[in-house]
Amino acid sequence: MAHILEWIDQRTGINGPIRAFLNYPVPKYVTRNYLYTLGGLSLITFALQVITGILLTFYYDPSPEGAYNSVDFITYQLPLGWLIRGIHHYGASAMVVLTSLHMLRTYFFSAYKKPREVNWLTGVLLLFLVLLFSFTGYLLPWDQKGYWATKVGTEIAGSVPLIGEAILRLMRGGENLGQATLTRFYATHILMLPAAVGLLIAAHIYLLRHHGMAPPLTERGRALAHKFVPFFPFWVVKDAVLGLGLLALLVYLSYTARAPLEFPADPTSSNYVPRPEWYFLFYFQMLKYFPGELEPVATVLIPLFIFGSMILLPFFDRSEERRPWKKPVTTIAGLFYIIIILIFTVLGATG
Ligand code: HEM
Repeated sequence: MAHILEWIDQRTGINGPIRAFLNYPVPKYVTRNYLYTLGGLSLITFALQVITGILLTFYYDPSPEGAYNSVDFITYQLPLGWLIRGIHHYGASAMVVLTSLHMLRTYFFSAYKKPREVNWLTGVLLLFLVLLFSFTGYLLPWDQKGYWATKVGTEIAGSVPLIGEAILRLMRGGENLGQATLTRFYATHILMLPAAVGLLIAAHIYLLRHHGMAPPLTERGRALAHKFVPFFPFWVVKDAVLGLGLLALLVYLSYTARAPLEFPADPTSSNYVPRPEWYFLFYFQMLKYFPGELEPVATVLIPLFIFGSMILLPFFDRSEERRPWKKPVTTIAGLFYIIIILIFTVLGATG
């Protein structure tokens, strides 16, 4: 083994950078706190999505005539197809949950402050792309749920004043949902988004290494700030063990409740009530409060305000203070968003 590594190193010079990456000193206050594992777990989930996604493409047929049957075949006939699709299906939810929790961790720890503004911005973009992953993946089985949710989703985009019509046509590839829509969603889902998210994660981790972790918040953390352990094995093993636990949970969910597949898409059905995936329910619920002419408030103003304030946050909140209990404005704003999203999700699920 040592000979092989030496042979490779002599021809590539790769051993030095790998050793530096693995021996990177991680402060002990980081390895002692499980909240710092959320970023790594988001990364592990992304890797699982890429692996299961590639396997799914071997059998998936991206055409309105064949998509449904190919997903049905994967779920009910292909050996272990249920498992691959199940991990991909539940993994999508896990990725949204873990990325959001990781964002909340960095938000409440004020990790977006100087000099980590750009890393925060790559994170905001990552969160947006993770949501786009889910939105584009939803249509692919070409069943009732995906078809009607996408019809409503593209209509929401179409209601944006001035440019809405152009966005709708760009997304659908025409007036209605059809082959062009499926091709566009498929290409975005399996090519553009993985490439963009992969590159952004690389930039995110490069910046993380460049600046190191943001300073600790508590006295106890500060006492550990000058003690370090190497990235490998301490942090890697901890994340890997949690990652295996997550994989076990995804396998369990896939086994006990097969990834859903409704009836084939029927563009003529008039009584189907469209429902988004659970993590978009809060938005679906919010839309109900802005009917008719007020719709652009929910489709343009509120999303612009939320993403705009996330982008501007590090440039406005520039004080030295990082402890959430000493920063009532950002802490209350964060809690307010969390509570509203939870309430709207429950209302959207039960209403
Ligand atoms: C695919 C999504 C993402 C991946 C794979 C990822 C990965 C990571 C990893 C591994 C870390 C170090 C460990 C940790 O703090 O948990 C980290 C740190 C960080 N992430 Fe992310 N992240 C993602 C999304 C986000 C989002 C959505 C935000 C915020 C909007 C964000 C902002 C940050 C910041 C500011 C840090 C530095 C934390 C510090 O210095 O304490 N990340 N990320």
